Amino acid sequence: MKNVRDYFSADTLDMEEKALFEPFFHYGCHRSELSQNGSYVKLSCFGNDIIIYNDNGDIVCFDNICPHRGAPFLCSGENEGCEKLRCPYHGWQYENGRLVIPNRSQFKESELQDVDILRYEVAYCGDFVFFSKAPLMRLREQLGDFYETLEKISVSIERKIDLNRTSFASNWKISLENALENYHVPSVHPGTLAPLELSNGEIVFDGLNSIWISDIRNQKAFRKLERLDHVFEDGIYRRDNYFSIYLFPFSMISSTFGYSYAFQSFFPDMPGSTSFYSRTYSVRSRLDTEAFYNSVKSVNRQIFDEDIRVCNMLQKALKGKEIRFVYNELEKRIVNFQKNYGRYMEDEQ
Ligand code: FES
Ligand SMILES: [Fe+2]
Repeated sequence: MKNVRDYFSADTLDMEEKALFEPFFHYGCHRSELSQNGSYVKLSCFGNDIIIYNDNGDIVCFDNICPHRGAPFLCSGENEGCEKLRCPYHGWQYENGRLVIPNRSQFKESELQDVDILRYEVAYCGDFVFFSKAPLMRLREQLGDFYETLEKISVSIERKIDLNRTSFASNWKISLENALENYHVPSVHPGTLAPLELSNGEIVFDGLNSIWISDIRNQKAFRKLERLDHVFEDGIYRRDNYFSIYLFPFSMISSTFGYSYAFQSFFPDMPGSTSFYSRTYSVRSRLDTEAFYNSVKSVNRQIFDEDIRVCNMLQKALKGKEIRFVYNELEKRIVNFQKNYGRYMEDEQ
């Protein structure tokens, strides 16, 4: 399992693309982000742009590459938007499930037979949209016991209130492993997450995925959260604690009390960088929540900035080093991740 500590080589990254990216479903976005004809979400994984797009009500996912001669369909540089799919090079369009080709008669019709956008499979868990290049299993199977919980969460969500698209200057495994443990919370997040006084809590594994559930021991903060209950609609997914669900290989969704969600993706980019997305979602409420969600957005951003700083330091420090690391009980999600990583990477070798 030597590759799990390889934060620097392009060969390992290529192998990870084959072993972890292509066969699994990955989190894309919430359906509410694609509500209009032409709305899209762009994600960068392994240096490629992937588009999830509302084509007249049909959600399609594809590489942002025109099948004619490779120009990007969407080149605005935005991470989301609403546009017609029209290649800027020779004007090929994609609409209502088919390519519209200018001056079509100049092509041999037989050569156009199999030409299509470079598609991914799309699957849903409730209103959560996932995509996969060549799925090894159905999404329901991949999400296992967490499928129902995620489904309930997805329908509790009202809308995306923030998209934090940033990069870690660290290998994706450093960035992800940091998110898989809470041992660092008092040192790295002293003014943001630590004041909740999260308990060591409980970690439950289900196959490749896991949940960490932790009690909020700061009684003042706990009571304040309890009192907010009436603000939200009945029937939303609720827990009286902090929890984070890890979805192998690249995603994590975390929440306090189920009042808001941060759905994070740690997509590999270059060996020394992670293409990070955190989509913060509000849940259905009956009263004004603007001030509450403004504070959620700003605290979440601070927390991720704190994580980025420490991960970037690790990437620098580990260059050229072979060290045997040790893990405690609070870090056992990392150990489980490494075991599963090894399993799929070995199949690839
Ligand atoms: S490359 Fe897109 S239309 Fe030619
Ligand atoms: Fe953290």
